Amino acid sequence: MTSFSSPDNQERLHVEYLIDPNLVSELEDGKDVIWGLTQPQKSLAPRYFYDDRGSQLFEQICELPEYYPTRTETWILQQYAIEIAQMTGICELVELGSGSSTKTRLLLDAYQQMDYPLCYVPIDVSGGILEASAKQLLADYPTLQIRGLVGTYELALKNLMPSPLPSRAICFLGSTLGNFNQPECDRFFSQVRTALQSGDYFLLGIDLQKPIEILEAAYNDLQGVTAEFNLNILRHLNKRMSGNFNLDLFEHRAFYNTTEAQIEMHLICRRSHSVRLETLDLTVEFKEKETIFTEISRKFNLDEMQQYLAKQGFKPLQVWTDPQQWFGLILSQIP
Ligand code: AVI
Repeated sequence: MTSFSSPDNQERLHVEYLIDPNLVSELEDGKDVIWGLTQPQKSLAPRYFYDDRGSQLFEQICELPEYYPTRTETWILQQYAIEIAQMTGICELVELGSGSSTKTRLLLDAYQQMDYPLCYVPIDVSGGILEASAKQLLADYPTLQIRGLVGTYELALKNLMPSPLPSRAICFLGSTLGNFNQPECDRFFSQVRTALQSGDYFLLGIDLQKPIEILEAAYNDLQGVTAEFNLNILRHLNKRMSGNFNLDLFEHRAFYNTTEAQIEMHLICRRSHSVRLETLDLTVEFKEKETIFTEISRKFNLDEMQQYLAKQGFKPLQVWTDPQQWFGLILSQIP
């Protein structure tokens, strides 16, 4: 574990590395890649999307006309951030998967407007992105204190320092929860619950069920950015694991599974061939039309999610949504 304080903002910025920035293997030992590529339905963990290029492509996805979640959640925060701040009162803001912290600014603006002290704990696996956005935030919010944690959600939630303010609000925005299957979801909620004390808050952003055409368009954009994002997982593996995936031999496919209420993203193999991942000492045979399952993106129902939160030990206090009810924000409290 390493930590540093920035010399320019000695007092206001602390970043702690829970993973060694030079030891990628702690996160990517490749065992899950071997497992995923040797099952009857081949799959890869969605976290392999996010190398630098993958993160940039995701930022581009968020700007696409078809990809409504980011815009819609931002709209909800613009409308209701003050209300959220009034409900939570003074509290430390912890953000899981903070990335560029764009949406958090809306919350920080609201807390600032209420004259609350500003304490922010960004959590991300990418130290580079976390540090760059933290420095920008410090320049823009003169009283802000930042105590960033670089690591997985699990590690960060276990290593949160006590809040210096009367309470804490953990924010999990962008419907990233939708990329977890049910067991991962259950584990995640129990980790969040453990990191919070009675009276603390949990702000959750979720993408909601809606007509299939809108959902499928969001994951099959006309510019092909999502296709590029999906294929980038292979480019990333080539780089990380000395692989020879030929991206021209795979095609992006995303569709809505109405039974499971989730978008499923696959890469379809165009013709039979084999792929070698040298670092893993792994050769994988692909048949024509065989797919690699790369991501689920679950779409939720607001009532069901509130019931689920209640079962996991959270008390839902308030729900905000947009006029079309495409996206929802739920603020819960620990009883
Ligand atoms: C990060 N996550 C919430 C995105 C989603 O919509 O599930 C990832 C994504 N995949 C394709 N487009 C966006």
